[in-house]
Parts: sequence; C-alpha cells; structure tokens
Amino acid sequence: MNILLLGSGGREHAMACQLAASPRCSHLYVAPGNAGTAAMANHYGQTSIQNIDIPPTDFKAIHACVLKYGIEMVVVGPEAPLVAGIRDYFESQPLLRNVMVIGPSKQCAQLEGSKDYAKDFMRRHNIPTAAYRTFTADTLNDGIAFLHTLKPPYVLKADGLAAGKGVLILPTIEEAERELTAMLKDAKFGEASAKVVIEEYLSGIELSVFVLADGKHYKLLPTAKDYKRIGEGDTGLNTGGMGSISPVHFADKNFMKKVEERIVIPTVKGLFQEGTPYKGFIFVGLMAVANNTTGELDPYVIEYNVRMGDPETESVFPRIMSDMVDLFEHVWNGNLQQTSLEIDPRTAACVMAVAEGYPEHYEKGRPIKGLAQVNDSLVFHAGTRISSDDQVLTNGGRVLCVTTLANSMPEALLKSYQEISKISWDGMYYRRDIGQDLLKMIVTK
Ligand code: AMP
Ligand code: GLY
Repeated sequence: MNILLLGSGGREHAMACQLAASPRCSHLYVAPGNAGTAAMANHYGQTSIQNIDIPPTDFKAIHACVLKYGIEMVVVGPEAPLVAGIRDYFESQPLLRNVMVIGPSKQCAQLEGSKDYAKDFMRRHNIPTAAYRTFTADTLNDGIAFLHTLKPPYVLKADGLAAGKGVLILPTIEEAERELTAMLKDAKFGEASAKVVIEEYLSGIELSVFVLADGKHYKLLPTAKDYKRIGEGDTGLNTGGMGSISPVHFADKNFMKKVEERIVIPTVKGLFQEGTPYKGFIFVGLMAVANNTTGELDPYVIEYNVRMGDPETESVFPRIMSDMVDLFEHVWNGNLQQTSLEIDPRTAACVMAVAEGYPEHYEKGRPIKGLAQVNDSLVFHAGTRISSDDQVLTNGGRVLCVTTLANSMPEALLKSYQEISKISWDGMYYRRDIGQDLLKMIVTK
C-alpha cells in the first residue's frame, strides 16, 4: 500500500517509523517531512520512503500528489489540516472518496478548534471538566462579573486555535480583568479570542490519554506525561513540549477505569449519537485531581486535541507493537473491535532538545553533530533539514528528541540522557529533569 503522512515534526517521524515497519507499506511519502524522515530511505528494506515538499494544508497539492503516487491511505499528523477540513475535502472529491483518511471530520475537529464547542459537548454528555462560561466583546461586563465569583488563579482560554498560546492562568483579579479585556476588545489573539472561555482552576497533576476511534469502537493507547515549560522544575514559558514519559504510573487500572467510563465512552458514544462519528486519534488532556472524600485521583478533561501529542507520540508510538497499517485500516472500516492492540510493557523516556532562545526567537541552520554516535536509543527529528552538501541542520525551535525503552523509568532516562549528550549543535538546550516529578511520586508513595 502507498501511504502519505502529513506533517514535519517529531510526532510524524515517530509515526513514519511505525508505518514503514509494516510489511503492508510499500511506499511511504511524508509531506513535508524533515531530515529524519528523509534519512529513513536507507533503513527500511522493503519500504521506499520519500519526503514531498507540500504543506499539510495545501489540499489541492495533496490531491495531485495522491493521484500521482496512487496513495491509498493518508495519515494526518497535525491539527491544522483537520480543522481546515481535509477529511471533508477528500469525501467531496470523486477520485479521492475511497482514500482512507486517518483523522476526524471538520465538525469533529472543532473539539480542538473551539474551546467553547468542546466545553459545550462535555456539558451535553456529563463529561467531568472544570466549570466554565463563555463570553464575547458584547458580554465583557458579564465576564468580569463572573471572574469575581471565582477564586484565583483565573483561567482564560481563547476559543480558537492560538498556536498553543491562548490559555492564560492569572494570579490576580486585576490581571484577569485586564487580560479578558485585551482578548475580547483588543483581539489579543486575533479572531481566536473573539470568544473567551473562563473556567474554574483545577489543581492536580496532568497526563495525556490517547484513544484511537473508528466512529463506534475505540482502543486506548498508552498514557503519557509531557513537560510543557521551557525551564527545569516546570518554570518559564510554555513550549510545544520538552519531553515525555510513557506509561504514567499513577494512571493505574482503577484510574483508567474512571477515564474510560466517565470520559472515553461518553466522548465516542456522544459523537456517534450526535451524528458526527469520530475516526482518528483523540488526545484527551487530563488533570488528575485528588478527591477529598475518597482520597483517590479523579480525572477531569482539560482539553481535547484531534491528533496525537508531540512529544507524547515519541514515547507512545515506539511502545505499540501491533501493525499500524492494519490498525488504521480497521479505523477506516469501522471494525476496530476485531483487532487487538499489543503494547510493549517497558517504559519509554523521551527528551527533547531545542534551539537556544526557543520558544521565543531562535536561529535556524546550525549544523548538528554526533547523530551517528547514538546507537542504543531512537532519535526522532523535529525541526531539521538536510543541506545541499548533505549536512543535517537545525530548522525549527524543537529540533530533535531521543527516546529510550527500558525496563524501568530510571534506566530509560539514564540512557536517553547518555545518548542525547553525544549530539550537539551551537545553542542546543534540553531540560535535565524530565520524569523527575514522577520518580519523586514513586519514591514518596
Ligand atoms: P490547554 O491549551 O487547554 O491544554 O491549556 C494549557 C495548559 O493550561 C494546560 O496544559 C494546563 O496546564 C493549564 N490549564 C488549562 N486549563 C486549566 C484549568 N482549568 N485548571 C488548571 N490548569 C489549567
Ligand atoms: N504535547 C502537547 C501537544 O501535543 O499539544
């Protein structure tokens, strides 16, 4: 089968490795891909792999590429093409209708594309989430009054996609009032903050749960925890993610039972019942909140994403032992219940290395050294490209990550840190405390 994978991050490199490893995949095209996916061409005997220089939101160019290369399956990595309706585009084109697009419809993608839509969906289906209300410029005064009914810190969320920057957590009422006004009246996040969700602050520990759904049935993929802040000890600016660990030990059987019963089943069922069956990955960002009565952790939804997480994919996907092409075919055919998911029980630890200055201003084009010295771990490229003289250069803020699978988290972390230290470029930075919070929880338990 010829497969097209859309995207260019570490997530897509990790997905590409799984797809290429399937005996069912004869040609894998990655649009636009990175230096990591370009280099795969030499590593998978039976599969040919090639980058195609097309942006993942250029539907016309993707259309032409699918016809030119006889593509039968399109796997969508990032959210932008989904929110822009790539699934619906394929369904509307007679020659593309039978191509298996792995990703939800435009309507379902609103779960990520609009916070208000997602919150309203959760309310309709009694899915546990923080209490909230939504405001526009016309109801700014009501919004300010609502803020006064809440306790600090205050959580303000731009309704639309705001490149991961649209959530503000503010310690004082004065800042909350000021920021709410800037979002609604001064379009602080452009059109994305024409509506703002104000919600109750949830105190707890976050984790990511991933679901692969075929419209009616679903499989739970391994859990992961990511590390969002740039600085050690979870300090400094938010990033796309600086590392990840899978599985998350506190998401035990009892906790995951609650996640399934209270969140996953009502989500998949709710979408089906509303006539918008969901096919693809659902990424549920959860807060595990201590229940004062039972003493147990209870899951609350912080957000839905309509794709896999990055860098969670880089620790989750290497643990999936089932054939990914088979799984995706079951998603398309709506019979996921007929297949089983095999998971590697080991722990995966992923450490992301970024360019100096990220997530603000950073330079690109720095030569990366030492890649060939890494042999005990996986290296997933994110922002990299190959120069005309065949050097691997930095080409983004998040540059690459190293993932190790081992029998314990300390072992996996030790190896990832040993291996990443063999790689270097001018201005390379990575956090040295990935997983430390989880290790402390285990020790103090
Ligand atoms: P989101 O883009 O909705 O995932 O929000 C970004 C980050 O803000 C989350 O990963 C959380 O760390 C934090 N956050 C969002 N909503 C809440 C909330 N209601 N209570 C506490 N923290 C939150
Ligand atoms: N790592 C968080 C995300 O992919 O949104």
